[in-house]
Amino acid sequence: MILVTGISGGIGGLIFRRLSDQDGIDVVGGTRSGDGVTARRIDFDDPASLADGLRGVDVLVFVSAGYAEDDVVLARHGAVVDAAEAAGVRHVVYTSLARSGDMLTIALPHRWTEARLAEASFDVTILRNGLYAEVPVGLATTSAALAAETGVFAAAFGAGQVSVVAKEDLADVAVRVAAEIQRDLSASRRSHHAGKTYELEGVEAIGGQDIAEVLSDALDRPVHYQPISLSTTRKALADSGLEPYQITHTLSIFSNISAGYLQAHDTDLTALLPAEPRPVRDQIVQAVKEGGYQSRSVSS
Ligand SMILES: NC(=O)c1ccc[n+]([C@@H]2O[C@H](COP(=O)([O-])OP(=O)(O)OC[C@H]3O[C@@H](n4cnc5c(N)ncnc54)[C@H](OP(=O)(O)O)[C@@H]3O)[C@@H](O)[C@H]2O)c1
Repeated sequence: MILVTGISGGIGGLIFRRLSDQDGIDVVGGTRSGDGVTARRIDFDDPASLADGLRGVDVLVFVSAGYAEDDVVLARHGAVVDAAEAAGVRHVVYTSLARSGDMLTIALPHRWTEARLAEASFDVTILRNGLYAEVPVGLATTSAALAAETGVFAAAFGAGQVSVVAKEDLADVAVRVAAEIQRDLSASRRSHHAGKTYELEGVEAIGGQDIAEVLSDALDRPVHYQPISLSTTRKALADSGLEPYQITHTLSIFSNISAGYLQAHDTDLTALLPAEPRPVRDQIVQAVKEGGYQSRSVSS
């Protein structure tokens, strides 16, 4: 049996629903709000929920739960590994961060978790996910209302670009890998995915100019890109309502984009998908529109 964690979330939900549609695959969902009937209760901050929730699980699709300070994430991810060992889970598939993100502040808990998993008693497959297409949208939306008024998209991208990937593609790879592992285990074989680390970098890179063009489409007015400094960005983020750790991570993303580190040059994504990766530009336009920036521009 496969258990997928974080099924109320974007990637966990996609993986769970798509595995549920596969013939011959026994899958259960794990979520902090699990009632034990429709889904198991899996709360990484509550070891008792892990001991109960991982009972009878062969393959654990461990979706990172990274929205917290590093010490909290390390504690919760360590608790998952401990509980999976104690429960006799045979293979863990962990959603990590792609190599191009090595210099990001968010890389630390992912690399720590990979190292902890490498010491564990079960087999491991690491899915090093590229940055979601929503990430540049999130960065763009901090400036979108202003862009609607002024026709300027100001951001600290410098001349850099960030490679991004559709979450659906990442989910498709996770579903393929987890289903193949489960079928191998059912046939009493160790999976060929054991010990593998797959780099799932996006094949499209987006820069400040590209986001300005996306905003132009979404807002239905010309928008020009204007690079700004990290210190200006830091001041703007201080008033944004983000948690302090989120400001650190956001600045780190800007810094890495402008340094050119987030543009990927190779990926396992295409080899693991049944079709070409989904184009991300349309998704970005749609996400900006869903963020309400079109109507904001109309009212401004
Ligand atoms: N590659 C990227 O660009 C990127 C960007 C942002 C985040 N991430 C990482 O990828 C993960 C999944 O992304 P997503 O977009 O699916 O995020 P999401 O939609 O925000 O979902 C995150 C899920 O994490 C689960 N979670 C949070 N705290 C938990 C805890 N204490 N114990 C168990 N589960 C917990 C929650 O699931 P339940 O409510 O069902 O328990 C939540 O729905 C994130 O958590 C983050 O670590 C990656």
